[in-house]
Amino acid sequence: MSGAAGASTVPQGALAGRSAIVTGAAGGIGFAIAEKLNELGADVTIMDRDVERARATAEARLASGYTVVGGDVRREEDLKAMFDHAVGAWGKVDILVNNAGIMEFVIPTVDQELAKWQRLMDVHLRAAFITSQMFGRHVLERQGNGNIVNVSSITALRPMRSSNGYVVAKAALAAMTQTMAAEWSGQGIRVNAVAPGFTRTHFAGSANEAGADFSDVFGRIPMKRLGQPREIAEVVAFLVSDAASYVSGALIPIDGGWAANSGP
Ligand SMILES: NC(=O)c1ccc[n+]([C@@H]2O[C@H](COP(=O)([O-])OP(=O)(O)OC[C@H]3O[C@@H](n4cnc5c(N)ncnc54)[C@H](O)[C@@H]3O)[C@@H](O)[C@H]2O)c1
Repeated sequence: MSGAAGASTVPQGALAGRSAIVTGAAGGIGFAIAEKLNELGADVTIMDRDVERARATAEARLASGYTVVGGDVRREEDLKAMFDHAVGAWGKVDILVNNAGIMEFVIPTVDQELAKWQRLMDVHLRAAFITSQMFGRHVLERQGNGNIVNVSSITALRPMRSSNGYVVAKAALAAMTQTMAAEWSGQGIRVNAVAPGFTRTHFAGSANEAGADFSDVFGRIPMKRLGQPREIAEVVAFLVSDAASYVSGALIPIDGGWAANSGP
């Protein structure tokens, strides 16, 4: 039997003196990542379009070592302001987690509107390109070390029908992780991605709200339960820590065995 979230791989204080940006971190997986990095000693910049919720969550759960900034990851100027905010607050950025995402799948291809398809690309892919480019320039300029983690999806490895926008964006994000890892790993920047399976957040709930019936899907997860945001955060913490010093270009499924199973 597999246990629930609890154990941790990275020692306390492992990220002391480092500064991290997490996008889409008002709640869900993003906030769990920000909280975990903060627990390990990192100063975190929490970015979300819902800045009030981000501020309320952070105030309720974090004691210190954080700052909150609003913005829309689709807007280049907001991403620039986010980056400047983080550098202003902490002097530098060592860790970038591209997590912001929107739940829009199960749209038959013949019904997909181009504007919605484009929005999925903009939020999941274009934004991550812009922030990673800013981060790459920032780290290379000061000849430092850095870590990027992109929050992709298990659907990048096991696509679903009627999900051409979301799944394609997440698969492209996985490919971008590898191409940036190939380019920057020799210059002190490791680039990795995680591929969460079905995880208990607002996101999973809204899949059902959107009219998709996931009850059958959840029953087919080998571990017979949804993931917890904290279980995604643990892997991200490992990836950005020195414990993962030789890991770059990886896409790690965190899915309760979902991708391993093609049977009933
Ligand atoms: N929950 C799952 O089952 C699951 C599975 C695989 C991948 N993911 C991915 O994990 C990431 C986090 O998802 P979650 O489950 O925590 O969902 P969530 O809805 O709880 O969190 C997403 C956050 O992103 C923010 N956001 C959305 N669009 C934004 C924009 N344009 N600008 C700034 N912020 C924006 C939202 O306000 C929200 O706080 C997403 O990229 C999602 O695709 C989730």
